[in-house]
This record gives sequence, structure tokens and C-alpha cells, in this order.
Amino acid sequence: MKLVSSSPEMTEAIGFNIGKMLKTGDVTALYGELGAGKTTLVKGIARAYGIENRDVTSASFTIIAGYRSDPAFYHIDLYRIETDEDLDNTGIWDCIGGDSVSVIEWAEKIEEELPEKTIKVKIKTVDINKREITIEGIYEEDWHNL
Ligand SMILES: Nc1ncnc2c1ncn2[C@@H]1O[C@H](COP(=O)(O)OP(=O)(O)OP(=O)(O)O)[C@@H](O)[C@H]1O
Ligand SMILES: [Mg+2]
Repeated sequence: MKLVSSSPEMTEAIGFNIGKMLKTGDVTALYGELGAGKTTLVKGIARAYGIENRDVTSASFTIIAGYRSDPAFYHIDLYRIETDEDLDNTGIWDCIGGDSVSVIEWAEKIEEELPEKTIKVKIKTVDINKREITIEGIYEEDWHNL
């Protein structure tokens, strides 16, 4: 499914709709260059779990931000991860799947380890405010029935 966003607000709204469709245990992988809008989309997904917008930030130091929502929500940002050792030290394997919902920025760094049914969202910068958002793993029909 391919959508076009013409503002950060619209990207956040798309994230909110994705969040509403996710089920416990789901993993969502986000792809897109620096500034594409991954964190903006995560703000919307998190809002579907009652997490406030301002509580979701870009990870300068935090690699995993966990929220005590029900189900637990994890925002994971692998930008700074360079080695398998770095990765294992984050505790990421306890934060994906299971009883939680997780969203991963720079998911290509663990592409091989992602669960088979991972929802993949690719954000492409078209121009200053325009983004092309491709979603794999969510049925277009379900989306329109939201
Ligand atoms: N349609 C749009 N959707 C999302 N962001 C947009 C859009 N138009 C402009 N922007 C701007 O692009 C920037 C996106 O930043 P954001 O932190 O969400 O990107 P990111 O992909 O998480 O970057 P990083 O790789 O650094 O984590 C924000 O400054 C936002 O205002
Ligand atoms: Mg980000």
C-alpha cells in the first residue's frame, strides 16, 4: 500500500492509523534516510497506545524507550548501533514480539533477525514536505475499514 504525506501532521496521522491496526506482539520496521519522518510516524503510532507525542523523541542516547502502556510499547532506534555486540547489549531481544508492540527505526541493521510477519514501512523524501510512505504487511482493505 502506498500513501503520500504532505506534512508532518499527516505522517503522524498515518502512524496513528497504523498503531490502531497493530496487535500485541507485532513488530513494525521503519526505513528511510535521516529526516525522512520515522520518528514523526512513531509519535502517531505511540498515540494509539495513549503515549504523549512529546514523550517520543529522537534517540540521541536512548536506543530503546519503553512505555508502560498496555500492551507495553517499545520505540527502538538502531541508528547508533554498529556491532552485534552493541546490539546484544541493548536488550532488544526482550523488547520485540512477546506481549509488547515495538517499532524499530533503522531496522535494516537487524533485517535478518526480524520476525517473518514484520510490518514494514518505508518513507521516501520527495520534497521538503512531501513523503511517499509504503506499507507492507497491512491489508489495504483493513486500512480503508478503519
Ligand atoms: N510529510 C512529512 N512527514 C514527516 N516529516 C516531515 C514531513 N514534511 C516535513 N517533515 C519534517 O521532516 C523532519 C522529520 O524528522 P524525523 O525526526 O521524524 O525523521 P527521522 O526519519 O526519524 O530522522 P532520523 O533518521 O534522524 O531519526 C521533521 O523536521 C519534520 O518536520
Ligand atoms: Mg528518528
